[in-house]
Amino acid sequence: MKLFNTLACGLSLVAAVACGGDAACKKECNGGDCATECTKKEYMEKSECKSAAVIDNMMSRRSIRNYKQQAVPREVLNRIMECGINAPNGQNKQSWEVRVVENPELQNEIKALMATVGGERAAGCFYNAPVWVFIARDKGYDFSAYDCGLMAENMMLAANALGVGTVCLGSPVRYILLAEGNEQVLSKLGFSEGYELSLCISMGYPDETPEAKPRDLSKVKFVD
Ligand SMILES: Cc1cc2nc3c(=O)[nH]c(=O)nc-3n(C[C@H](O)[C@H](O)[C@H](O)COP(=O)(O)O)c2cc1C
Repeated sequence: MKLFNTLACGLSLVAAVACGGDAACKKECNGGDCATECTKKEYMEKSECKSAAVIDNMMSRRSIRNYKQQAVPREVLNRIMECGINAPNGQNKQSWEVRVVENPELQNEIKALMATVGGERAAGCFYNAPVWVFIARDKGYDFSAYDCGLMAENMMLAANALGVGTVCLGSPVRYILLAEGNEQVLSKLGFSEGYELSLCISMGYPDETPEAKPRDLSKVKFVD
């Protein structure tokens, strides 16, 4: 695993050096901040740089469990959602529905509901994130759980690229679905008939930079 990470980092580094700025462009920009912008633009225009940026985004995403108390602008959230629904999905059925909850009153109501099942621990399962995302799957489509998972990952990667932290959450789904008297919260979320809450995501600006957890590369085998 270490070797894998080292290789991935090494590749990114080689690409980053290969992409590192262009004198002609910098001259046009007259230095200063513009030069930085110019370098970024060139960086993204070169294909090896694009792939390095994409790989770096995937390798740098980590679950964030501590957030700044700072709102995420609506345009940023819209971009994240747009990336989410552009995920691959079975037969393009888009067998998902998404609800974004920023209203602290509704968040408190959901916390109180979850606490009836799992106490304080359950109440805190969205951590201190300002944005809570609820994803429901179409129960009538056998691949909808995969569609929702792929959409969630697209959202989390887009968020990471935009400096927004996330953590994918299964526990709130359990708490909400197990809670007696959950009808009011579910009706406020307003999923369509036939849709079932399946996954949540906490979102907000990160107030921590966790290390990557180890991955087991032996789970992957090339079969001749
Ligand atoms: C389906 C799913 C459910 C998860 N549920 C929770 C959860 O309820 N609480 C939590 O803190 N993290 C949850 N996580 C986050 C994982 O713990 C995390 O992705 C994993 O430990 C790897 O760490 P990383 O995301 O930083 O790479 C969940 C992740 C997935 C994919």
